[in-house]
Amino acid sequence: MVAPPPVEPRGASSATRLRRLRRSAGMRDWLAESRFDSGRTIYPIFVRPGTGPRERLASLPGIFRYSPEEGARHAGEAFEAGVPAVLLFGQSQRKDPRGKEAYNPDGPVARTIRTIKRLWPSLVVISDVCICGYTDHGHCGVRSKGHVDNDATLAILEKIAVLHARAGADFVAPSAMMDHQVAHIRGALDRAGFSDTGILACSAKFGAAANGPFRDDADPSVAVADRLEYQLDPRNTREALREIEHDIAEGADLVLVKPALPALDIIARARDRFHIPIVAYQVGGEYAMIQAAAERGWIEARAGAVESLTAIHRAGADLVVTYFALSLARWEQERVD
Ligand code: PBG
Ligand code: ZN
Repeated sequence: MVAPPPVEPRGASSATRLRRLRRSAGMRDWLAESRFDSGRTIYPIFVRPGTGPRERLASLPGIFRYSPEEGARHAGEAFEAGVPAVLLFGQSQRKDPRGKEAYNPDGPVARTIRTIKRLWPSLVVISDVCICGYTDHGHCGVRSKGHVDNDATLAILEKIAVLHARAGADFVAPSAMMDHQVAHIRGALDRAGFSDTGILACSAKFGAAANGPFRDDADPSVAVADRLEYQLDPRNTREALREIEHDIAEGADLVLVKPALPALDIIARARDRFHIPIVAYQVGGEYAMIQAAAERGWIEARAGAVESLTAIHRAGADLVVTYFALSLARWEQERVD
C-alpha cells in the first residue's frame, strides 16, 4: 500500500494563527491534551523489620524506610491525601544466599500489607516480589557457578507472591527479571486460591544509571551487584518490547517500564502495540536529579515533578510509580484551598 500524501497546511502563513489557542490560562487548560494528577500515581514505600523510628534514605531526599506499623500509617496518610495505590519494598538485615527472609510470614512486607488492609481496605496494595533486599550478595536471584540461576529463583518468587497474596495484596509485582517469572507466579497464585490477585509485571526493566539511589539505599553493607545479566541493556528497544510481549502471554495484568524518562520511546511503542495498561516507574535517580537541582535552586521541584510526570503520561503510561506521589497530592490540595 502506498502511504497517502502529507496534508499540506494551506494558507499557513496568513489565516492560521496557532497562538489563538494559547491566549489565556483558561483556554490552555481547556485544550490540554493530557493531564497528570495524583489519581494516576503509585507511591513506593520501604519497610524493614522491627519497631524503631523511620530512617531517612540519603540518596532519596524526603523518602524514608519504616517499620511495618509506621509504613502502613504512612501509606494511609498518602491514601487520605489522594494517592490511590502503594508499592511496598521490603528489606531485612537477616540475609542469606537465597533471601529466605523474603517469604517469612512475619516479614516486614506481609505485616505492612495486613495492617494496611485492616485499616484502609480500599487502598490498592502492590508488593514488590524480589529477593535483593534479603540476599547477602545483593542480587535479585539465587547464585550458582558465578551466575544468577534463573530456574532456581522461580520457586522462591512463587513463595513470596503467595505470601503477599495471602496477606491481602491486590497485585504482586515481580521485579527480578527472571525468565518465566510471571507464568510461575500466576500458576502458584491460582493453585493457592488467589486467582483474583493480579500481577504487575516489571517487564522492561533496564540496568540504568538511575537505579543508583535505590541500590545505595537498599543496604550500603551489601556491595552493589551488577545486574546486567538479567536486566535490559539500555541500548535495546526490541528486546524490551519482547519482554513485555512475553509477560502478557504469561498472564500479566499490568506491565511496567522502568526507568521512565530515559525510556519514553519504549513506553510510547508499548502503548501502541499492546492493549494492556502500561505502568512506568520514575525511579530513584530520576527523582534525585530533580530534587538535587531543586536544592541548588536550579529547577523548581514542583514544576520539574509535574512536567516529568506529564511527559511520561503523554508518552503513553496510564499509571506512574513515583516518589513524588504524596507531594503531588499535597500540592493539588494547596491549589483547591
Ligand atoms: C530491584 C529493584 C530496583 C528497583 C526496583 N526494584 C533496583 C534495581 O533493579 O537496581 C529500582 C527502583 C528505583 O530505582 O527507584 N528488584
Ligand atoms: Zn531485585
